Amino acid sequence: MSDDISRKLESKLDEKIFSQSRKKQLKDGFKKGKVVNEVLDKPTVMTLYKLITDHIIAFVNGPISAGKESVVFWAVDEKNVDVALKIYLVSTSNFKKREAYILGDPRFSKLKKGTRNLVFLWAKKEFKNLSRCYDCGIPVPKPIHLTRNVLAMEFVGKNGSPCKVLLESQIDENDYNQAISIIKNLYTKAELVHGDFSEYNIFKTDNGLVLFDLGSAVDLRHPNAQEFLKRDINNITRFFSKRGIRVNDPTNVFKEMIS
Ligand SMILES: Nc1ncnc2c1ncn2[C@@H]1O[C@H](COP(=O)(O)OP(=O)(O)O)[C@@H](O)[C@H]1O
Ligand SMILES: [Mg+2]
Repeated sequence: MSDDISRKLESKLDEKIFSQSRKKQLKDGFKKGKVVNEVLDKPTVMTLYKLITDHIIAFVNGPISAGKESVVFWAVDEKNVDVALKIYLVSTSNFKKREAYILGDPRFSKLKKGTRNLVFLWAKKEFKNLSRCYDCGIPVPKPIHLTRNVLAMEFVGKNGSPCKVLLESQIDENDYNQAISIIKNLYTKAELVHGDFSEYNIFKTDNGLVLFDLGSAVDLRHPNAQEFLKRDINNITRFFSKRGIRVNDPTNVFKEMIS
């Protein structure tokens, strides 16, 4: 991006944050010199701006979902194709508990200290996991780009509305079989365990299930990989079973998978 424009934008942001921070009661969620609208801090806004000047996206439309650790935005690229931006929040203390999913994964052994670096690493982890799955032919949103804490990926849905997840969908035995086969392919082909495999993190599209939210997925070499695998199988089995769908004994599914 042009240095000049970039500097101007930066000083504009500074101005705004500074003028807000002088007031005691801050309007529209600006926090003292730190966070824009409680969600995007200044470096994140700069990163979004960089995505535009790097032609990854043309503009950002608006938020789709706000979680504790990330927010997902609907953006559009220069060809008018929808893009999902998952923005990992730097201003969160919740990341501490996530350390366990990174420490122990040999891919991330050289860990730099500090929340900010941990957040960048987490975004990188999700991007790598998505890429690995995508390359193995596992149905996930196609990863597009990663800069710092902002991950751009294929938008699964239409006109800015994400596809329904399993929880919100009519489901049948075929969906159960697909879900189990995704866990299996994840394990045997991508050598990953999702770690948060649930009805909340699987889209049901017209072309079958699509798995997402791969930030917590771990490499098989992670010491807790098998425990996470067991939990993933148990959780999804419970969900299908509660909906009255015939399921296999999760213990057997697990044993078969690791054999
Ligand atoms: N690739 C995508 N395309 C469309 N919507 C998405 C995409 N990824 C995430 N979303 C939307 O954002 C929500 C939260 O995403 P998720 O990755 O599960 O984040 P969290 O870590 O907050 O659970 C999803 O339920 C979905 O509505
Ligand atoms: Mg999720």
